[in-house]
Amino acid sequence: MIAMHDSGLGGLSIWRAVRVALSDWPITYLADQAYCPYGPRSRQEIIDRSLAIGHYLMSQGATILVVACNTATTVAISALRRELPIPIVGVEPAIKPAAAASRTGRIAVLATQATLASERVQTLLDTHANGVEVLRRPGHGWVEQVEAGELDSALTRARVAAVVQPLLLENIDHIALGCTHYPFLSPLIRELTGERIALYDPAEAIARRVQSLLQQHGSDSIGDRCYRFITTAPDTQPMASMLPLLIGHGHAVESLNLE
Ligand code: DGL
Repeated sequence: MIAMHDSGLGGLSIWRAVRVALSDWPITYLADQAYCPYGPRSRQEIIDRSLAIGHYLMSQGATILVVACNTATTVAISALRRELPIPIVGVEPAIKPAAAASRTGRIAVLATQATLASERVQTLLDTHANGVEVLRRPGHGWVEQVEAGELDSALTRARVAAVVQPLLLENIDHIALGCTHYPFLSPLIRELTGERIALYDPAEAIARRVQSLLQQHGSDSIGDRCYRFITTAPDTQPMASMLPLLIGHGHAVESLNLE
């Protein structure tokens, strides 16, 4: 089984791509909504939650773990790799391809505060920016809007415009979406940027990576092609009601108490 987790519903942007690339694999998706958002939390809290979730998903039969969250990847992937004996795929802002493709020599990366402040992002900048100027901007309130299912409300539009409009004056030609919630706001971002700024969503690259790791490890899909959706929130209804909007169809959601 392919296991995936995020602080909430953002990782479903990765789930969609993994489902298409590995259509005969069972996938279990866990949303840690009791602790969402991760962005403002301490490193230790994010590591503890990620480890507890990783162990739980292994107990459910995970063959591979996709950390479908930039914040958890930048903070907790080393601890996960030390503790769990399965392949682990993380997601990080696509600074490298965006910088390599830039013609104006200026790009932006949008992510949570925790991701932008992480050593991992600093290393990506040091190694791959190659003289390209990278503007770092947090999407204030964006995660909350996606969690609320407000992909196109007046407040969401205002929050997206507050970040993206100033960037239009910066002569950037690429934006790396460094939070898995943000691709759900791509239609609103595109309305502002038009075609002249390319958006980088790493979902398809992650799906290809999962595919190649499963091949390397000689794993075949096990069991029926079934999907599980789990939330750590006590009420499953909010997540269940948002699945049609975010992945195109409804599904039952289980609640899990990981305390
Ligand atoms: N979806 C997340 C990410 O990719 C986490 C957002 C949050 O919980 O703050 O960073």
